[in-house]
Amino acid sequence: MKIEMYHASKFGNGKKVASYLQGLLIAKGHQMNVLHVKETKPKALPPADLYIFCSPTRIGKPIGSMRSFLKKAKMPDDTKYALIATLVKPRPNKKTGEMPTKEEIEKWQRNLPIMERILKEKGMTKVADLEVYVLDIKGPLEEGWEKKVEEFASLLG
Ligand SMILES: Cc1cc2nc3c(=O)[nH]c(=O)nc-3n(C[C@H](O)[C@H](O)[C@H](O)COP(=O)(O)O)c2cc1C
Repeated sequence: MKIEMYHASKFGNGKKVASYLQGLLIAKGHQMNVLHVKETKPKALPPADLYIFCSPTRIGKPIGSMRSFLKKAKMPDDTKYALIATLVKPRPNKKTGEMPTKEEIEKWQRNLPIMERILKEKGMTKVADLEVYVLDIKGPLEEGWEKKVEEFASLLG
């Protein structure tokens, strides 16, 4: 398979996930390129069997540069895609010690559904998605993130 992956990592955690995934998929015999969204033009993407997009979260949404990249991206109809969101792992409130409710978590972590909504309008087909946590805004990645990425890779073929 020819795979093109685009990420919008700011602090390097998403980039680390993308590089690890690239190593796994190349080892399985796939061709795979990874670029930051700023290194390419969304209207001139090379053809691929699978596109993978990986975005950090900003106020519950994918970072602005990824949202505009996905809106402008030109890909053949019915192409397959997969998504990765990096998010801060829900943690107890520093003052009250209470964990955020399910509703609060959903409000601040709508990264995947928003990317999916943008791509659905383009008639693309999702094959897998993944949420990888960071322990704080700049990282590090949660313990066991490699295993999550390995499971995700196995869903891609
Ligand atoms: C201004 C700002 C707002 C953020 N808002 C959220 C948020 O609403 N939800 C969340 O889970 N993470 C939020 N984060 C943390 C990002 O998810 C985290 O920085 C990112 O996943 C790290 O990935 P990167 O190293 O690839 O940039 C925010 C970070 C910044 C700088």
